[in-house]
Amino acid sequence: MIKVINIKKPGDGSAFEIIERKEKDPVGNELVVDVHFSGINFADIVMRQGLYPDAPPYPFSPGYEISGVVTKLGPEVTKFKVGDRVLAGCHFGGYASEVVLPEWQVKNLPDDWSFEEGAGLTVSFLTAYLTLFDEGRVRSGDKVLIDCATGALGTLCTKMLIPNGVEVHGLTSSAAKKELLEKRGVKAFTHDEFYNDSNLKGYDFILNSQGGTSIKKHYERLGLTGRIVCIGASSAVKQGKRSLLKALKLVLSMPKFNPINLMNDNRGIYGLNALRFFENPEFLSSRMDKFTEFDAKPAIDKAFPYGQVSDAHSYIEQKKSRGKVLLSWK
Ligand SMILES: NC(=O)c1ccc[n+]([C@@H]2O[C@H](COP(=O)([O-])OP(=O)(O)OC[C@H]3O[C@@H](n4cnc5c(N)ncnc54)[C@H](OP(=O)(O)O)[C@@H]3O)[C@@H](O)[C@H]2O)c1
Repeated sequence: MIKVINIKKPGDGSAFEIIERKEKDPVGNELVVDVHFSGINFADIVMRQGLYPDAPPYPFSPGYEISGVVTKLGPEVTKFKVGDRVLAGCHFGGYASEVVLPEWQVKNLPDDWSFEEGAGLTVSFLTAYLTLFDEGRVRSGDKVLIDCATGALGTLCTKMLIPNGVEVHGLTSSAAKKELLEKRGVKAFTHDEFYNDSNLKGYDFILNSQGGTSIKKHYERLGLTGRIVCIGASSAVKQGKRSLLKALKLVLSMPKFNPINLMNDNRGIYGLNALRFFENPEFLSSRMDKFTEFDAKPAIDKAFPYGQVSDAHSYIEQKKSRGKVLLSWK
């Protein structure tokens, strides 16, 4: 039997249940991974609170990324063998002690990477690569603002940009986390400092994760031909249960952009939903292969035993995280 963490219905940490389920056999190009670690993403919190439009019907098992060891192969698998150390992206269902996945979603874990590092890579790397380089076309010499600079995604963006000659500015809600950012080579600002200093402008690229009114404020800080990519609405999330009122206020506060104004401003707006790329396996797999071109090892903050999944979510909701938060199955 394998263990699976489900979200029973929208709610706080008590929304989780751990169930046992029979193992599944792989068919076709599928393989089975004995999971060592599952990555936790901010979206998992949003879907636990019932605010994530793409989530499956309740109950369901969240989880977009894992690391582990291949234990069984379907008859059409060509690239892996039993015993391989791997990392993988999941279309939900990654909060489990064993997963069955098509082989295109799986990549070999480099020898010098730990299982913790492997489990923390997929979502952050794909989001970073797709926003920074596919959509944002960030180049050496650019000045970039990262909204969620202290989290897993922001930390990885920093590691992918600074060695390539990009100036990175980062935002945090916590003055105490600024030092951590500065140590990583980021010019750090609290939200208040940033919005009160009108000299902080001329950005070539801005990664916006707060959503709502921050999008318009960030747009105004773009330089000539600057691009903004919107990837979330974290300002709608409060600790614990969902607040539909807060979510509604955020949706209503989203700016509307007129193409004529974009023309006159010579600026661009993009959006990204990494999950939707699962509809394009070849594209997604080709982007994932690029992680070896960077020093992409994620900074791991903490791994919680799987039975403490609600504590792990709470840790992120309390804004304590300083890098990747994981669930451990071993
Ligand atoms: N659209 C997509 O496909 C996509 C994919 C991946 C991630 N994202 C988004 O990117 C953002 C960062 O993701 P991540 O994986 O780096 O997350 P993470 O590791 O969990 O870190 C979350 C970061 O967001 C900040 N934050 C802002 N509002 C928050 C709130 N209400 N509660 C908790 N933290 C809050 C925190 O920074 P401070 O404490 O420093 O303020 C924290 O460092 C999230 O908004 C996520 O939804 C979007």
